[in-house]
Amino acid sequence: MREIRIAIAGVGNCASSLIQGIEYYKRLRRKHAGRSQGLMHYSLGGYVPADIKVVAAFDIDDRKVGKSLDAAAVSKPNCTKNFHKIPRMALRVQMGTVMDGVADHLGDYPESRRFIVAGGKPVNVARVLKETGAEMLLNYLPVGSQKATAFYAEQCLKAGVGFINCIPVFIVSDALWANRFEERGIPAIGDDVKSQIGATIIHRCLAKLFEDRGVKIDSTYQLNVGGNTDFLNMLNRSRLKMKKISKTEAVQSQLQVPLGPEDIHIGPSDYIPWLNDNKVCFLRLEGRGFGNVPMHLEMRLSVEDSPNSAGVVIDAIRCCKIARDRNIGGALVSPSAYFMKHPITQYPDEVAKVMVEDFIRGRIER
Ligand SMILES: NC(=O)c1ccc[n+]([C@@H]2O[C@H](COP(=O)([O-])OP(=O)(O)OC[C@H]3O[C@@H](n4cnc5c(N)ncnc54)[C@H](O)[C@@H]3O)[C@@H](O)[C@H]2O)c1
Repeated sequence: MREIRIAIAGVGNCASSLIQGIEYYKRLRRKHAGRSQGLMHYSLGGYVPADIKVVAAFDIDDRKVGKSLDAAAVSKPNCTKNFHKIPRMALRVQMGTVMDGVADHLGDYPESRRFIVAGGKPVNVARVLKETGAEMLLNYLPVGSQKATAFYAEQCLKAGVGFINCIPVFIVSDALWANRFEERGIPAIGDDVKSQIGATIIHRCLAKLFEDRGVKIDSTYQLNVGGNTDFLNMLNRSRLKMKKISKTEAVQSQLQVPLGPEDIHIGPSDYIPWLNDNKVCFLRLEGRGFGNVPMHLEMRLSVEDSPNSAGVVIDAIRCCKIARDRNIGGALVSPSAYFMKHPITQYPDEVAKVMVEDFIRGRIER
């Protein structure tokens, strides 16, 4: 039986969309075998989304720990669109290790939104990963969880489990960490997932379009607002450093001559509770074209944030699985470049896409 056994750290909105999506595509497989609606690949290396099985899940929120995974995935403060009902699951969410996973201000909100850390002893994550036969762990912790992310990465190294880092903490893109994964023969993909049609991929494409068409970019901004816990967490600016670096480098890397730091501004701008998981991005590029004549472009994107990244992660999971099948360890350069904002090596998206196809077909190692 072709099965991909995954563990999840952080059962927030993104995890909820991922779990709903796995179940959605299971049903779709039965109804219309082989159609790839909403995914970059329906079948990847012979694996379909329905092959993915969650075997362990860790969180620290009192509203989630101890619940069955299906219930935790739709528990407050999760607020993403429930596009598919998750069937009852026997798997329970286990208590993770808190460290810097919670921003201080989350305890100050009214009861409906207040964060309370669950009581009880943290489980031994590496042991759970081994006992459940997890093949990889997805890291979905809040932005700014530097120490907690390093902790989960360390547990993967201990347990011999692959690591997919969906958040802007630099592990897989850090040469020292990447070497440790390579030495242990464990595949890793990261860092910071690049959504399907998100602000980053659009900003990269537009910046490159300006350059390819000979327009000199003078300045640009990308302002994002949303009402999910990710945006609430990011009100604490001290947690934002890596997020800003990741998003800014993702755009700068597409330019032959990067913009000066004063001329590029990218980042989350505010938390608007009623938007829930609807993220709105306002993007502007100013430049000069033929004859030095000025022009500008304004764009507004409105998208449900969490499902927007879940399909990309479903592809990352399957790339990690085929690397395991082929005994390839370390940073997977091509999937990281195509699926993540802050890979160990940046490539233009059209190049990274071809590299991923070559990787899937076994033409290149990583
Ligand atoms: N499109 C996207 O949604 C997108 C794109 C790129 C990156 N990301 C990143 O993915 C991450 C997850 O996003 P989300 O919307 O699901 O956030 P979220 O706030 O809804 O979920 C985070 C979860 O992690 C849990 N958590 C906190 N500390 C923990 C710990 N030490 N151990 C275990 N669990 C812990 C929280 O209780 C919460 O359930 C964020 O860092 C976000 O920036 C999301």
